[in-house]
Amino acid sequence: MYKIFTVCFLFVLLSGPAKAGEGMWIPLLLGELNLVEMQENGFELTAEDVYSVNAASMKDAVVVFGGGCTGSLISGEGLLITNHHCGYSAIQRHSSVEHDYLTDGFWAMSQEEELPNEDLKVTFLRSMEEVTASVLKGVTDEMTEEQRREVIAANSVALMEEAVEGTHFTARVESFFAGNQYFLFVNEVFDDVRLVGAPPSAIGKFGGDTDNWMWPRHTGDFALFRVYANEENAPSAYAESNVPYQPRHFFPVSSEGVKEGDFTMVFGYPGSTAQYVPSWHLQMLTETVYPQLIRLRDEKLAVMRHHIEQDRAVRIQYAAKHASVSNSWKRWRGEIRGLEILDAVNKKQAQEAAFLQWLEADAERQSAYGSLLEDYAEVYARMETMQLGRDYLLELIGRTGMETLRLAGSFSTLLNLIDAKEPDKAAIKEERERLLGTLDGHFKDFHQALDEEMTKVLLTRMRKDLPQELQSDVFVHIDKKYDGEVAAFVAELFHETVFTDKAALVALLQSVSAKKLQPLRKDPSYSLYARLSKIYHDQILPEYSRLSAGIDSLDRQYMRALQAFEPERRFYPDANFTLRVSYGQVRGYEARDAVEFRYYTTIDGIMEKNNPEIYDYDVPAQLQDLYARGDFGDYAREGYLPVCFLASNHTTGGNSGSPVVNSRGHLIGVNFDRAWEGVMSDLMFNPEQCRNISVDMRYVLFIIDKFAQADYLLDEMEIVGSGTLEEKEAALL
Ligand code: ARG
Ligand code: GLU
Repeated sequence: MYKIFTVCFLFVLLSGPAKAGEGMWIPLLLGELNLVEMQENGFELTAEDVYSVNAASMKDAVVVFGGGCTGSLISGEGLLITNHHCGYSAIQRHSSVEHDYLTDGFWAMSQEEELPNEDLKVTFLRSMEEVTASVLKGVTDEMTEEQRREVIAANSVALMEEAVEGTHFTARVESFFAGNQYFLFVNEVFDDVRLVGAPPSAIGKFGGDTDNWMWPRHTGDFALFRVYANEENAPSAYAESNVPYQPRHFFPVSSEGVKEGDFTMVFGYPGSTAQYVPSWHLQMLTETVYPQLIRLRDEKLAVMRHHIEQDRAVRIQYAAKHASVSNSWKRWRGEIRGLEILDAVNKKQAQEAAFLQWLEADAERQSAYGSLLEDYAEVYARMETMQLGRDYLLELIGRTGMETLRLAGSFSTLLNLIDAKEPDKAAIKEERERLLGTLDGHFKDFHQALDEEMTKVLLTRMRKDLPQELQSDVFVHIDKKYDGEVAAFVAELFHETVFTDKAALVALLQSVSAKKLQPLRKDPSYSLYARLSKIYHDQILPEYSRLSAGIDSLDRQYMRALQAFEPERRFYPDANFTLRVSYGQVRGYEARDAVEFRYYTTIDGIMEKNNPEIYDYDVPAQLQDLYARGDFGDYAREGYLPVCFLASNHTTGGNSGSPVVNSRGHLIGVNFDRAWEGVMSDLMFNPEQCRNISVDMRYVLFIIDKFAQADYLLDEMEIVGSGTLEEKEAALL
């Protein structure tokens, strides 16, 4: 009796409607699902204003920026705002010790001075439609996961081809709700995107990795770019004759600011979340995978820090790498903590228990989903090791692990082409040229002493951490030949390898005879790469893929079953890097007992943190001057200049650079982070503590105007809400 009561009670708790704040919604479906709630929360526009195929709507002002961020158009001349950290590699690529735009910032004072960026693209969504029936045509329950994938892939290709035939558009088909629903997206990609302005890192990355994922925050995390098009306003590769792109819509910028409780909407491209995974998945992450990866990255960060602190050139070389290693490292720690506080595993288990009861109450459900949870338990028992192995090896070689090894590995295609029975000369030539093209980039940001230490540290860790079945035979070799001394092995490797010598590699790649390249296989970096890659490809990947396919299939059934189990609940699909809307309110939060966070920060806080001794808190002299003079222009309110604000929008990685708009669709901020206590929202949302962090547009305008004196940029924006003097005075009353 008691048990049944608990189960029913939990059922009610877990199945209420999605709380305001939680959810990443499909823009096309807002009218059906969300509009009423949005309007109750203050939204003054219609679903068509957000997304429309025929009329200009907000979606026409939101882009995928580069490979993993969002950006928004803020002028009729293609001006785009995103985060400083999203433009970081572009800014870094234009930087050297002499022109250090990372340190000093960069501002084009006219369109001629804007800097083109090879490989930087922005993608506009032109239309989307549901295509589930067409994608699943010919799919049956009897098919294996592989057969199913093949049919779906073939159907999707046909749909995409049909959608873009005779146009310059591109298309994607994406799966939603774990393969229960599919949408087709038609996109337009622009590839002439120029850097317009970026504040110095001491503003755009103020607080650095120290403040990352934290509140209170004082980062002016924005950068400006401009999209260029040809005379027809269509995409074109970089050309001097290109002209600023005229978007169908751009966001008016609000200088009105925000108040607690105001409606906020974030419109962007959240990358990936896992809201509906079973308890075993959470256990795998929080008990095994995250702790191991955190330990590995502790070591990586220590090695980087050691070298960065000694040499300014190394700091520039490893700035982006350090930031990216530190970023997930810190988030994983926050996620573990947040899930523990939420008691997430127990909550999931209680939900699973209730689900099981529901299954057992009905023979039909029983036969459809009877063994689902048992199957999960079985597959995760093994997945834990394979997931760890996979992530661990990717950490060792990719993700700023052993960089020389990675470079050596990038030669494997070439070496295989050369060793083929009948070598394909044209392919060899092409591959040589490709590799030649990568060397500059690699060596520009490479510091050998750092990589040598990194290699030593990571191999040592691998030997200690990984279970026997995932160990490499390289350690047998090290025991035999080097008396177990990893350091001696690594020292000799770096002494002998050619992969640290750019000139030698260039000469090899340019030489006429392909035979000259053959000895590379025996190079110690290449052979270590080959040994590690063998574990990955032989011992991990096949089993990992098989288990993943099993989990995909279970997820698909579980998702469908959950929707039947909780018919009242409004489900939103997991993030999959497609355009989504999240809405919430400007709101602070209680971080822990007795610690209540206000929803905004001000420039006063920048000055409080100011400390020239600490790299992350070294405030530029010019900003200190403006502060001392109180020269805040029109951007201060009631005496303070706002910097960042918090809201309860459900966001994740990929939402960086997303527009944050108010109830009238005016841009009030640019999203760039989440607050520490709520970073577990990718797995479980807590409305009390999950907050996204945005830079306030008033601070952005202040920096452009007063700090950079690039006020000509303000002229092309549509700045609204600053109002007349009377209106301002009325607002103060
Ligand atoms: N945490 C933010 C995001 O996930 C910002 C990361 C960049 N900033 C940094 N200090 N690493 O991407
Ligand atoms: N900084 C993240 C990004 O680059 C956004 C923060 C988050 O994960 O919510 O997308």
